[in-house]
Amino acid sequence: MANHGGDMFIKALQDRFTCKRYAPEGHISDSDFNTILEAARLSPSSFGMEPWKILVVENQELLQQLLDCSWGAKKNADRTVILLARKNLTAQSEWAHDICHNVQGLSPQEEKARLEMFQTFQKRDLRVLETSPQTLDPKRALFDWASKQTYIALANMLSAAAVMGIDATPIEGCTFPELERVLAGRGIIDTAEWGVSVLVQFGVHDPSHRPHPKLRRPFADVVEYLR
Ligand SMILES: Cc1cc2nc3c(=O)[nH]c(=O)nc-3n(C[C@H](O)[C@H](O)[C@H](O)COP(=O)(O)O)c2cc1C
Repeated sequence: MANHGGDMFIKALQDRFTCKRYAPEGHISDSDFNTILEAARLSPSSFGMEPWKILVVENQELLQQLLDCSWGAKKNADRTVILLARKNLTAQSEWAHDICHNVQGLSPQEEKARLEMFQTFQKRDLRVLETSPQTLDPKRALFDWASKQTYIALANMLSAAAVMGIDATPIEGCTFPELERVLAGRGIIDTAEWGVSVLVQFGVHDPSHRPHPKLRRPFADVVEYLR
């Protein structure tokens, strides 16, 4: 028997598109926007470490600064969001302790065991404690691992928006060091602890601007069953 939830979900993904132009008066309600933010907050993360923070840009001066350093962001979006990724998230970090203790309610013994496992995982399996071969930056692999996880939150926000018929734009088109300088200059982030991972906007698309057709590789090229 067909699963109607699944059919509705796939239809929403088929209908969604990256919004390239927003209607200036387009508005999405606080309630719908909160649903999108909840979809991010409820996202899974490795070891449940939630290495993210979500900034909702409502200050118009800051928004203009963001648009100035982001060639991918659009004018007239109703909501503009910055996803931050946590830096230096190791077993020794205050962040890891706080998650184990305050969020997951682990006892000191349980926390010790969990963080030992976490350290082994980071070191032996993921090797994110090594210098990144791409950038020769000793912290970059660790940041990229946290950043990857913010994309799960990003995907859930995009899917939630799609299900609600809200238009959205995921954005990597941004000079990230510049945006980080702006945020740090305003005292919003400490760049030793946070980096900008990705941006996303929501709103109502300009109806006079047609979305491009859905282009995807065929299912059989994407999925291979190993039997
Ligand atoms: C991580 C990510 C970053 C993206 N960055 C931008 C961007 O900066 N500006 C933009 O207009 N589109 C951006 N896109 C949209 C993609 O170009 C788009 O998703 C892709 O072409 C497929 O089209 P569709 O989303 O309309 O199905 C981004 C998409 C993803 C997933």
